[in-house]
Amino acid sequence: MSHAPITPKVLVIDDDNDLRYSLKRVLSGRQYEVLEAASGEEGLSMAEQHNPHVILLDNRMGGMSGMEALQHLRGINPNAMIILMTAYGTTQTTIEAMKFGAFDYIMKPFDLKKILTLTESAIAASKDLDKAGKEEAAPAVSNEDIEGGIIGSSSAMQEVFKMIGQVAASDVTVMVTGESGTGKELIARAIYQNSLRAQKPYIAVNCAAIPENLIESELFGHEKGSFTGATNQRIGKFELCDGGTIFLDEIGDMALTTQTKILRALQEGEIQRVGSSETIKVNVRMLAATNKPLEEMVKDKTFREDLYYRLNVVRIQLPPLRERKEDVPKLIDFVLKRLARDSKADTKSISPEALALLNQYRWPGNVRELENLIYRSAVLAQGDMILIKDLPQEVVKAITGLPETPPAPAKTPEVVAQTEAKAPPAIETPTVAAVVTEAPEPTLIGQPTIDPYDAVYQALRETHDTNILEHAERALISRALAEVGGKQVKAAEILGMTRATLRKRIDQYDLS
Ligand SMILES: Nc1ncnc2c1ncn2[C@@H]1O[C@H](COP(=O)(O)OP(=O)(O)OP(=O)(O)O)[C@@H](O)[C@H]1O
Ligand SMILES: [Mg+2]
Repeated sequence: MSHAPITPKVLVIDDDNDLRYSLKRVLSGRQYEVLEAASGEEGLSMAEQHNPHVILLDNRMGGMSGMEALQHLRGINPNAMIILMTAYGTTQTTIEAMKFGAFDYIMKPFDLKKILTLTESAIAASKDLDKAGKEEAAPAVSNEDIEGGIIGSSSAMQEVFKMIGQVAASDVTVMVTGESGTGKELIARAIYQNSLRAQKPYIAVNCAAIPENLIESELFGHEKGSFTGATNQRIGKFELCDGGTIFLDEIGDMALTTQTKILRALQEGEIQRVGSSETIKVNVRMLAATNKPLEEMVKDKTFREDLYYRLNVVRIQLPPLRERKEDVPKLIDFVLKRLARDSKADTKSISPEALALLNQYRWPGNVRELENLIYRSAVLAQGDMILIKDLPQEVVKAITGLPETPPAPAKTPEVVAQTEAKAPPAIETPTVAAVVTEAPEPTLIGQPTIDPYDAVYQALRETHDTNILEHAERALISRALAEVGGKQVKAAEILGMTRATLRKRIDQYDLS
């Protein structure tokens, strides 16, 4: 390959003069030839004339929108790498942009370093394209607007949306993984809705919900009399779904024998009804999801390795909510709006204090838990705002009892002295659990001491907490574990509970 070095050409299409100016300045600094256009229309004619390698395209412009321009540009100059810039980052824009073949997507305001890096990788990709000399197929996807209702402006979720856009239009098998409640089902549906099969059937099968002996007949159908109870012929989901998309949810719960048949359907595109030797051709796109650790299951031989590789062609790993806490306020807002729309609750907002508290929460049940929590709290809220008192007690408890934020007990004697015959060290009582953990030092002769249960009681009153016994239990378990260096057998002995119960509690209180 003897390519003469060419100066990469970057076209900036934006109606904001200042932004064009700064982009031009940083990009010229990198020895790129920078072209400018102040509107979508002008951008198209520049692209036609100059054949730029990379196009930085603003989404919101007077006249032709960036999204429209993007589609035209793909026709004019299919090899150009287009980066869409927008101040109005929504799920749908990201998905659409990627679907229409954008190289990437950046949200305004961005820092110039970031756009430089992005432009560089776009240029690298464009050179690759030149070398390969191949034309990228223009995505022939309808311009329909899809109401996804998926919230996520965190960068982790933006990546997910980008991937949806990239994979939707092909027939590739996609595996969606992530903890329970992270939105796997929602994402699978979004892939389908944005795919070329959007007008064809979509069937979701929950592999965990169907008994093992019925799942094959459910998926592939059966012939009359093929097993006891098969009084009629039955058409399976795969056949019903011909031409469409099948979503195998909870695939980690599927029996090995069924896995074999799924593999065959994937590989050969054919199935057999139970009790029949006739093979039936089916054209089905498969999406799958699970919250099980499939890699480990492959090692344990409870999940077929070959099927794993077949399904895992593209993997979308959904981040747990605790790793994208910036999405929490928007999700809350979204849920509140939906509750109002469905006339389930007309609470409009959440107080900053309640939100701040929730921001410390781990969300073990992810978005599903958030939905339920907001629903419950909104119903309880008297005004049009959710206050701390409306939040579920067990959540407040989990937050205020978090081991990472142990409140420092005050060492100076005060207050309690007057009311108690026995006096301090007084304890600042920010959380119930903390108070119990900081429970009494052995009483020294002549030294007044505090009744620890009184402090617990005060804390209970302050936080309106009704889960006092759980707090005590959590604190005592944690104390015992600390004493024996985390040895569960010993701790269980001290506490007088079985090891199994202790384990359960450790999980329940998140003490591990
Ligand atoms: N990003 C999101 N924006 C809005 N709603 C969401 C989002 N993610 C999840 N949800 C909502 O949270 C709930 C749980 O999502 P979903 O059922 O897709 O989770 P899942 O990952 O399939 O969980 P499981 O593993 O338990 O089946 C649904 O009601 C869904 O609408
Ligand atoms: Mg699910």
